[in-house]
Amino acid sequence: MQDLIHKLESTNNLQRSEYKSLLLCDDKYLHERASTTREKIFGNKIYMRGLIEFTNYCKCDCYYCGLRHSNKTVQRYRYTKEQILECCAHGHELGFRTFVLQGGEDSFFTDEILVDIIQSIKTGYPDCAITISLGERSLESLKLLRVAGADRYLLRQETSSANHYSQLHPPNMNLKSRQDCLWNLKSLGFQVGCGFMVGTPGQTLDHIVDDFLFIKELDPAMVGIGPFIPHSETPFAGEKRGNLALTLNIVAILRLMKPNLLLPSTTALGNIHPKGREMGVLAGANVVMPNLSSPETQGKYQLYDNKSHIGDKPAQFRDRIAKQMAAIGCEVVVSRGDYAE
Ligand code: 5AD
Repeated sequence: MQDLIHKLESTNNLQRSEYKSLLLCDDKYLHERASTTREKIFGNKIYMRGLIEFTNYCKCDCYYCGLRHSNKTVQRYRYTKEQILECCAHGHELGFRTFVLQGGEDSFFTDEILVDIIQSIKTGYPDCAITISLGERSLESLKLLRVAGADRYLLRQETSSANHYSQLHPPNMNLKSRQDCLWNLKSLGFQVGCGFMVGTPGQTLDHIVDDFLFIKELDPAMVGIGPFIPHSETPFAGEKRGNLALTLNIVAILRLMKPNLLLPSTTALGNIHPKGREMGVLAGANVVMPNLSSPETQGKYQLYDNKSHIGDKPAQFRDRIAKQMAAIGCEVVVSRGDYAE
């Protein structure tokens, strides 16, 4: 196995069968090499992003997601521009220099409304980066957001197999338009984040390798990887959750494939194991995303069951994560944490 790890480290690439062996390996050496690679590029610094979950309305009906349109048990909410700016003000005081505006696909937030919000944040906090995570939007719309000052965009492809994509989404959604949107984002000069869940129903090792190949081609700045966790009010309520070891191996492989990649140790990873976030960093992740949303709405933004730390204040969130990182010799820094080619 060490030969394969060295090969990946020196060439950033493997054959399909080699990727598959590495995905299943239980050699801690993989994580060690990934962690060393992270340290070579970023030292012991971990970038922090402030997550603002500003709307839980969603017109999509993805089979895995608790915010899906058909889930009538969700109490829906949306923030006003003032509420979003309050989150930014508080976040800035706490040392955040990236704000991630995340929400469902909510038609209330027209281009005009979003442009105004983005411009106001940029005027108030010119030293901060803005990341948008609002699902698929048209090229024209994305262009307006980019011109208004949005720096980055997160849109997970979820899978890179059209067939598997259709097992996870209703017929009105398709992989082609998801991937087109990612390419549009790149062409507009966004720092793009893609990614996928680990252990979604029907996912095979070949699908994961297909994701690696897509990521090679897209060459994104960020990749978000987290285990699938079932939500009781979705068609996947009875499905098994994703595997921790496999998730960590994927993080480690991505670090070795693209050493300078921004790789979050995701909330979902922290959710399936008390030390999940730390394990993510020790497998090569270098970004954490504490929640800046108001404690009142956190419980209403449940993509999966048993989201942890609902009701925590942003300062508590940040402090807890900073402590977790310090315990493994890492330091959460005040920085935009841009992608460097
Ligand atoms: N479990 C884990 N991750 C989920 N996401 C959505 N639903 C779930 C779930 N049940 C992820 C998707 C989406 C991101 C915002 O959250 O990958 O792109």
